Amino acid sequence: MKFTNAITSSFVLVSAALSSLTAAVPLSRRDVYAPRVTSPHNGTVWTFGQRYNVTWDTSDAPQRITNPIGQIKLGRDNIIFPITLASNFSVLDGRIEVAVPNVDSGDYNLVFFGDSGDNSEVFTITNTNSN
Ligand SMILES: *[C@@H]1O[C@H](CO)[C@@H](O)[C@H](O)[C@H]1NC(C)=O
Ligand SMILES: *[C@@H]1O[C@H](CO)[C@@H](O)[C@H](O)[C@H]1NC(C)=O
Ligand SMILES: *[C@@H]1O[C@H](CO)[C@@H](O)[C@H](O)[C@H]1NC(C)=O
Repeated sequence: MKFTNAITSSFVLVSAALSSLTAAVPLSRRDVYAPRVTSPHNGTVWTFGQRYNVTWDTSDAPQRITNPIGQIKLGRDNIIFPITLASNFSVLDGRIEVAVPNVDSGDYNLVFFGDSGDNSEVFTITNTNSN
């Protein structure tokens, strides 16, 4: 029957999609590494003029990383500012010390670039120079 055939063929399609998914996941896990920023996090306050460590979790780092060189920029609300806090470090380091950029007081996030971008949680920068 037509109805049965339709169900059977969509079941076959779904199974095919699922098996190609399970085949693809281990590959991308091995090659693409998006470190999770652990500090700053929601509730962190950075003061302009000070230095702080940005830290990230390296426990799930794969053996082989496509791009091991990291870069950290400042962002807010899905915008990435042309403000680089750190660059040319190894994404396996787990931390890097940065100076707080001279920006208006407010809420920001960091954007961590390695193999792929990862946003930190929203945190606060205070700057007595700007307001
Ligand atoms: C960053 O972490 C390193 C290692 O724990 C420490 O020696 C250094 O003082 C820290 N820097 C800041 C600004 O806290
Ligand atoms: C990046 O870091 C490497 C190793 O520390 C150094 O040899 C190289 O000169 C650096 N490149 C830039 C553009 O700073
Ligand atoms: C915590 O995160 C929420 C949502 O990301 C944000 O709206 C809030 O401003 C953050 N709070 C602080 C203190 O950074």
